Amino acid sequence: MSDRPPTSDVPWWRRGVVYQVYIRSFADGDGDGTGDIEGLRSRLPYLRDLGVDAIWINPWYRSPLADGGYDVADYRTIEPRYGTLEQAERLIAEAKEHDIRVIADLVPNHTSEQHVWFQEAVAAGPGHPSRQRYHIRDGRGPDGAEPPTDWVSVFGGPAWTRLDDGQWYLHLFAREQPDLNWDHPEVRAEFEAVFRFWLDRGVDGFRIDVAHGLVKDPDFPDLQAEAQQILGSPKEANHVHWDRDGIHDIVRDWRRVLDGYDDRMMVAEAWVAPDRLPLFIRPDEYHQSFNFSFLEAGWKAQTFRTVIAEGAAAAAAVDSTSTWVLSNHDVMRETTRYGLPAGTNWRTWPITGPADALDEAAGLRRARAAALLLLGLPGSAYIYQGEELGLPEVWDLPPEVLDDPVWERSGHTQKGRDGSRVPLPWTADGPSLGFGSGEAWLPQPDDWAALAAAGQAEDPGSTLSLYRQAIALRRRWGAADEDLELLDLGPDVVAYRRGSGLTCVVNMGTEPVDLPAHRELLLASDPGVAGAAATSLGPDGAVWLS
Ligand code: NOJ
Repeated sequence: MSDRPPTSDVPWWRRGVVYQVYIRSFADGDGDGTGDIEGLRSRLPYLRDLGVDAIWINPWYRSPLADGGYDVADYRTIEPRYGTLEQAERLIAEAKEHDIRVIADLVPNHTSEQHVWFQEAVAAGPGHPSRQRYHIRDGRGPDGAEPPTDWVSVFGGPAWTRLDDGQWYLHLFAREQPDLNWDHPEVRAEFEAVFRFWLDRGVDGFRIDVAHGLVKDPDFPDLQAEAQQILGSPKEANHVHWDRDGIHDIVRDWRRVLDGYDDRMMVAEAWVAPDRLPLFIRPDEYHQSFNFSFLEAGWKAQTFRTVIAEGAAAAAAVDSTSTWVLSNHDVMRETTRYGLPAGTNWRTWPITGPADALDEAAGLRRARAAALLLLGLPGSAYIYQGEELGLPEVWDLPPEVLDDPVWERSGHTQKGRDGSRVPLPWTADGPSLGFGSGEAWLPQPDDWAALAAAGQAEDPGSTLSLYRQAIALRRRWGAADEDLELLDLGPDVVAYRRGSGLTCVVNMGTEPVDLPAHRELLLASDPGVAGAAATSLGPDGAVWLS
């Protein structure tokens, strides 16, 4: 062990484990098939036992759920299907009693079409000042029948929809999500008030949605680009509507609000080029930003080594720490992703196949190894609900149950993200495997009974046990310092040593590799690897050594 000072003087978010709760699919307290706050509250002991420092809750505000709640109708009330404001406050207080902090998810790039501002703008008609809060413009061509620009939506199809009065409004996502105009002072003032509203209710931080959006080129030029990749953002600095320099002034205003409170944080969902990411985490901006390069790395040692070195160095240069993320509610679960041949486009694969390309066993082995890779790194670890159970993507959901707007807007070329949002299995039986007392809003595969949390909790070799042990060990070995030394153990190996003496070795090749000399084998992703005497590590395995 190094003789570094204890971690208590370190802000919690720098080294924390944050568990993402997709509230709609976590636990259903009232039996209506939709997850809710009471369901989540009832599972706080599970999260405490898992050992997480914080939960990030996907949007819980009043919403028609046209995009799973990222279409917010009222930022100050809770969606009735999820509960009430009183329940939210009780949850925040009870989470604190379990030493779990709460991160809310704020959506500033767009509102729901049901938001009072948009309703007012639509009703008021062209020329009314209320239209200035959004991007509502005349079209081009005869009678203005052509959209103002050729921009396309992230979910597929045009980014403009025409109102009955002939003007068009911009929505970079679904038609139900009009983009706000961040040059408007009322928009800025309103969000500062919303930040305060939730900070005053005890929220510890915010995950900021589409942090690379917000600002648009005031000239509204055409892109003249090929249709952009569905669910992808071009990683180009000062693109006409992504990653524009003007974003940072807005963020600095938010930071001033947060700095008026103790110990709060915000983390950016910014899909930008790696060299632009540090700009978002300068000392007067976000505290952290998701490192999506880690998630996008594929099962390739060289790529992971580069991503880890660059991510850690970039964050350290601005006195932050990196986040490490393998999964979230927008991407295919890694247990399935890692089971597909290298180079597979996992967004289209559920439609194009071939289905027999998937090696489920390899996917699970790699996902377990990746968990040790992630949890041993300095900085903060983000875990998406169900990752700790090794859940696979439900990539074969029948089309009639799909809810993600991507399915329709992509012209059925992509099934969308529902496969990663299937409600959690808590028990081996019951109408929705313990998720709730009724059927779940998305069907769970029958074989998920074997993956239920209750059964895994009793099995020392389960993925849940692996996560529990890793998070517990991390407190002593992983979160004690922020030092990182990459080790060269061969081209197919990712290995690093921490200041505490923790050594993590991951074998991404096809042959066994020799382990370095060590005193103790702390943890292995493969339950078959045991004992201090272990001298080699098989393919797709990971170990923590001291
Ligand atoms: C990113 C969110 O994670 C995603 O689920 C949502 O669809 C878009 N932002 C739009 O808000």
